[in-house]
Amino acid sequence: MDKNRILQALSRVKDPESGLGIVEQNLIKSLTVDAPNVHLVLQVGDLNMEKKNELNFAAIGAVQEVYPDANVNLHMVVVDPENVKKYPHLKNIVAIASGKGGVGKSTMTVNLALALKKQGYQVGILDADVYGPSIPIMLGLKGKKPMIQDVHGRPRMIPLEGHGIPVMSLGFIIEPEQAVVLRGPKLSTIIQQFFNECVWPELDYLLVDLPPGTGDVHLTLVQTAPVTGVIMVTTPQDVAVADALKGMNMFRLESVNVPILGVIENMSWFTPKELPDNKYFIFGQGGGQQLAEMGDTQLLGQVPLVMEIREGGDEGAPAALDALLAEPFDQLASRLTKAVENRVVEKAPTTVVNITT
Ligand SMILES: Nc1ncnc2c1ncn2[C@@H]1O[C@H](COP(=O)(O)OP(=O)(O)O)[C@@H](O)[C@H]1O
Ligand SMILES: [Mg+2]
Repeated sequence: MDKNRILQALSRVKDPESGLGIVEQNLIKSLTVDAPNVHLVLQVGDLNMEKKNELNFAAIGAVQEVYPDANVNLHMVVVDPENVKKYPHLKNIVAIASGKGGVGKSTMTVNLALALKKQGYQVGILDADVYGPSIPIMLGLKGKKPMIQDVHGRPRMIPLEGHGIPVMSLGFIIEPEQAVVLRGPKLSTIIQQFFNECVWPELDYLLVDLPPGTGDVHLTLVQTAPVTGVIMVTTPQDVAVADALKGMNMFRLESVNVPILGVIENMSWFTPKELPDNKYFIFGQGGGQQLAEMGDTQLLGQVPLVMEIREGGDEGAPAALDALLAEPFDQLASRLTKAVENRVVEKAPTTVVNITT
C-alpha cells in the first residue's frame, strides 16, 4: 500500500464545515499504513455529529476507492481552530507598510509583485490604503469594478487582473473621497470581506498595500488573517526613518507579533542620464540600513529615484516590466523570497491576533 496514493485520495475529501480539502487544510494529524490496516487521525474543529459522520464516510470511502480491501481505522480529535491554517490558498501574506505617505509603498508593492511573478510565483495584491488606493491606476485598472459571482449560493467578489496580477482594492468599492472618511467598523468589514468574500486564486504571495502609519486597517488585517511578515518602506532621510520606526514597532508589539521581513529604501539616489557615474543623494543617505538595524531586520534593497518609475506608475505600465528598469525589483524579489523561506523555518506561523479592548 502506497501512503502517497492514500494521501492523494484523501486530498479530494472536503471538510463539510468549510468546504475546503482536508489535506489542503492540514486536518490530517497522522496517517500510518500497516497493510491492510490504515490508521488515520483527523483533527476537526467543533463538528456536529451529522457532519462528523459525513466526513467519516467520505474519508473511509476515499481510501477504499484506491484500496478496496483496506481496513480503515479513523479517529477524530478536536483541535484548537487557531491551529488550522486560515486561508490555506494564500500561502504567504506579506504586508507592505510605511511611516508616512509618498515614500513609494504602492510603487514598491506593484513592482515587487511583477518581479515575483516573473520568477514564477503566483502573486496577488490587496490594496488596503484608505488615503489613496493607487494600485488600480498603477496596474491600468482605473475605473473598473470587480465582478460579483454566485459561489455555492453566496455572492463573491472576483478580483480584477492587471498584468496577470489579481487585485482587490478599496478603490474598486468606494470613491476616494468616501474612503478617507470611512469609520473604523465599516472599514474593518470591507477588509474582512476582501478575505472572506473574495475568490482569490491559489497564491504564493498576497501583498497587502497598507495605509501609511498605523490604524484601523492594520489592526483589522492582523486580526483577520495570519500575516507572514511585514516589509517597511522608507526614504533615506532621518525624519522618514523616525516615522517608519513607529509604524514598524506596532507589528513588533508582543500582542501583535508579526515578523519584520526587511526594509526597502526607496528614492535612495538620483543618477542623471548624462552623468551615469554620478549619484546624488537627494533625500540623504543611510536611512534604510538604520531602520533595519533598529528593527533587528535586514535591508532588502535600495531603489533609486528614476523618472521612468514614476511615469510607469502613472501610465499603468510598471517599471518592473521594462528590462532596463527591472533590476532593483528583481533583486528585491529574490531577497524577499529568501527572507520568507527563512522566516518559515525560524519562527512559528503567525496566528491571528486577538485584541480585546
Ligand atoms: N523610485 C522612484 N522613482 C521615481 N518616482 C517614484 C519612485 N518611487 C515612487 N515614486 C513616485 O512617487 C510618488 C509616490 O509613490 P507611491 O508609491 O504612490 O507612494 P505611497 O504609496 O507610499 O504613498 C508616485 O508618483 C510614484 O510614481
Ligand atoms: Mg500608496
